Amino acid sequence: MNRLAPSLLAADFSKLYEQVAMIEKGGAHYIHFDVMDGHFVPNISFGAAVMKSLLGKTKLPFDVHLMIENPDQYLEDYATENTEFITVHAEACIHLHRTIEHIKSLGIRPGVSLNPATPVSVLDAIIEDLDMVLIMSVNPGFGGQKFIPSSLKKIRELKDLKEKRNPKLEIEVDGGITTENIKTVTDAGVGIVVAGSTVFGAPDIEKRVKELLEQIK
Ligand code: DX5
Ligand code: ZN
Repeated sequence: MNRLAPSLLAADFSKLYEQVAMIEKGGAHYIHFDVMDGHFVPNISFGAAVMKSLLGKTKLPFDVHLMIENPDQYLEDYATENTEFITVHAEACIHLHRTIEHIKSLGIRPGVSLNPATPVSVLDAIIEDLDMVLIMSVNPGFGGQKFIPSSLKKIRELKDLKEKRNPKLEIEVDGGITTENIKTVTDAGVGIVVAGSTVFGAPDIEKRVKELLEQIK
């Protein structure tokens, strides 16, 4: 089943709880937390404290996207009872295999994210160790950017690798997803779609979640 993970980066931070309630009512499957440190990406978003403020307020599992340097230092902070995935960037990890093992040791499903310029082949040695691969379809750091078309080729390549070597692998795409292109990415092999501005920029958030889900069911 294809799933939707709205990105909180695009939400109205002054009413986070209400906006999360709207995506939950609309049927979203995860909350995507875009953690940014201003070093790995040229923007600072929020930390674990903001994410933890939602514990007990939502049943939605947390899909944590760490766009930070030295993620190993912070993994414990994001390993909460709601956290399903923690995704680190291949480009930010010197010892990526060790980081993946560290995430697993916390009882969390490990994901690796690839920036638009990073080829799928960098995962060759670890593809069997992963629960998820997150294909960045924009350059990380900001919501509201345009989908990078070359991402489709990477999604198809990853789907191939998944079928050959890790059939349970989740493929997630992140950045520039709209009502116009969401079906294109799921048809190419994506199982979890991240959407920020398309969801939280809509006049009716709950309705937009439903519209997006309708297209990928
Ligand atoms: C970008 C983030 C994305 C972004 C998605 O660095 O990883 O999750 O917030 O936002 P939209 O859907 O607006 O491109
Ligand atoms: Zn993200």
